Amino acid sequence: MSRISTGVKGLDKMLNGGLIPGRAYLIKGGPGTGKTTLCMHFLMEGVKNGEKVLYITLEEPIEILREDMRGLGFDIDSPLFVGIDATPVKEKRSFFEGMHYEEFAKGFTELVRAIKERLEEDIFTRVVIDPITMIRLTIKDELDYRRTFIGFLKEIAKYNVTLLMTSEIYGIDIEDYLVSGVIELRTFEVGGKTVRGVRVLKLRGSNFDETTRPYKITDQGLEVYSEENIF
Ligand SMILES: Nc1ncnc2c1ncn2[C@@H]1O[C@H](COP(=O)(O)OP(=O)(O)O)[C@@H](O)[C@H]1O
Ligand SMILES: [Mg+2]
Repeated sequence: MSRISTGVKGLDKMLNGGLIPGRAYLIKGGPGTGKTTLCMHFLMEGVKNGEKVLYITLEEPIEILREDMRGLGFDIDSPLFVGIDATPVKEKRSFFEGMHYEEFAKGFTELVRAIKERLEEDIFTRVVIDPITMIRLTIKDELDYRRTFIGFLKEIAKYNVTLLMTSEIYGIDIEDYLVSGVIELRTFEVGGKTVRGVRVLKLRGSNFDETTRPYKITDQGLEVYSEENIF
């Protein structure tokens, strides 16, 4: 089975070589655990290979994100990097602005339509949606959500892109069952110190390293120590 790099060497090792392309994955973790940074590594790996990549932000305004990611040395101003700002605060291009809870489903349909439109225009290989938490929180009915989410994954799958989504929701969630792989970023208290740990929870069609491995966020971004243990 062919593999594509996440852009983080140690994580590729944990994944037995990388992600299986053309599938959807979930990156889970609390705030500040490095979900967005990991997604940037993934997209920039594509940019490095001359691929066009698509980043959709639903929480952090794209300009703030660009600043942060420039600071970490990512080539975020490359013409191969296409960003869609779907944050609620941005007035003009927001899909959710002024929408009530009930209207959100409509907003989500709009968002999916916009993503598809963009995917029709260009050939993208890697897509990130950061985060999907909002979608989950606004579709209250579990069956409704499940249906919406599956429908969405099917639509995106048609374009043969590798999709990464981030989520702040813990535990075993509906999404975990529906995606091809789940990676979790966490912090632990070890001997009074806070340590970051990454774990692969699921990778369909492949073996993977089931051990939680330490990682750090530095000026160069995320670094995973795939030979080391936390405990
Ligand atoms: N240069 C750096 N050195 C060390 N840690 C950093 C650096 N830049 C960012 N971070 C860490 O990365 C975190 C933000 O990562 P981010 O990918 O935005 O997380 P998430 O998307 O999970 O909220 C910050 O909380 C900070 O701890
Ligand atoms: Mg983030």
